[in-house]
Amino acid sequence: MASDSLTITDNRTGKTYEVPIQYGTFPLYGASIRGADLKNIRVSAEDFGLMSFDPAFLNSASCKSAITFIDGERGILRYRGYPIEQLAEQSNYMEVAYLLVHGELPTKGEYDLWTREITEHTMVHENLKRVFDGFHYDAHPMPMLISTLAALSTFYPASRHVEDPAIREHQIYRLIGKVGTLAALAYRHTKGLPYVMPDNDLSYVGNFMNMLWRMAECRYTPNPTLEKALDVLFILHADHEQNCSTNTMRIVASAESDPYCAAAAAASALYGPLHGGANEAVLTMLRQIRSKDKVPQFIKDVKERKALLMGFGHRVYKNYDPRAKVIKRLADEVFDVTGKNPLIELAVELERIALQDDYFVSRKLFPNVDFYSGIIYEAMGMPSEYFTVVFAVPRMAGWLAQWQEMILDQEQKIARPRQVYTGVAIRDYEPIEKRRATS
Ligand code: CMC
Repeated sequence: MASDSLTITDNRTGKTYEVPIQYGTFPLYGASIRGADLKNIRVSAEDFGLMSFDPAFLNSASCKSAITFIDGERGILRYRGYPIEQLAEQSNYMEVAYLLVHGELPTKGEYDLWTREITEHTMVHENLKRVFDGFHYDAHPMPMLISTLAALSTFYPASRHVEDPAIREHQIYRLIGKVGTLAALAYRHTKGLPYVMPDNDLSYVGNFMNMLWRMAECRYTPNPTLEKALDVLFILHADHEQNCSTNTMRIVASAESDPYCAAAAAASALYGPLHGGANEAVLTMLRQIRSKDKVPQFIKDVKERKALLMGFGHRVYKNYDPRAKVIKRLADEVFDVTGKNPLIELAVELERIALQDDYFVSRKLFPNVDFYSGIIYEAMGMPSEYFTVVFAVPRMAGWLAQWQEMILDQEQKIARPRQVYTGVAIRDYEPIEKRRATS
């Protein structure tokens, strides 16, 4: 008779243990045992007990979550059960942000209230602009965003009361509202342009474009095709379950830090080239390759491990990233307005050659969300250092949804992994004059 448990025999002692197996919504993708159950497996009463050793969390679930589902083998991504393709086609970013945070699509009244609350929280304190003024003229915009997200905490000391639902809700409006403003301030600072105030009559994305690109005109009118394209990109980037930055958000917030500092930490993780910083790195790579005839040599370098094919590969997807498929289609619509970015042909050729090569096929390496997104951002007029900032703006909704879920999860405690100690067991202190050089 089959039972939902695992029988483990410890060959050191000959003892047998029965460990329960628990499931998520999809048993085939969510079966797990509790790591803490392994602690009972020990050779003696003094033994600490067995741990699971899993550097980089290759196969460890850190939480139960009802927000985002990924089936990496089949290239499936769903927010709260809704396929990403349907949301990209039919929804908009404000609605998706609500869905992530609240778990359901909003009614018309809920949508209007949510949008109004967020729109009314887009302004930042004048002192924050002075923080931007202190940054060097060529500072990377991502550390500027990271620092000012943390700086927001100083304006809202009540945000530390994370146990209070009303206070949490307020910070969610503020963070989703203000992250676009901070991102735009970073852009304008880099360009040496005067800061632009939010325009509450525009959509969330339209207003973001206004704060980036308004020049001398009295009123900025976003191009509807570009506004729609950016909105779709925001939907695609809004959440991606337990990735490096989301996990950072949860870990920092598990110590009950306020959400501004936790979001700054999450953004710091996103900045890295192996995570959200890959979109910037893809453009650097494409510029270094320069022409289609150099693609075979570059692929050879990758296979000899002299380079990484940035924008390829994923810890979870072992199939085409569904977000990359949507973005590739979106590129043509954007190019109709902006003119074609010549790098797109190089990227398509790189993808074509890589997907025929056994190195990439055997490792199941496919384009991820970052492979084509930067080419679109560049066509819209954004510098490559800015791409990761444009990733962070919509990801704020995902970080906050995951933050809220963690706080309400009775099973969660302060995150604190164990280690396998491999250092010296014990030794006696020696005065400095008696020590001998070790190298
Ligand atoms: N180019 C060349 N080889 C690669 C690449 C790549 N982009 N990605 C993985 N591999 C190889 C890797 O060398 C390894 O080969 P072997 O088994 O022979 O040692 C194998 O594929 C498995 O890779 P891994 O590094 O063990 O996989 P991981 O899950 O630890 O890393 C990753 C995932 C995304 C960090 C990695 O694929 C990578 O560095 N990609 C390039 C950076 C990138 O595009 N990052 C964006 C990720 S998607 C957006 C996001 O989440 O932010």
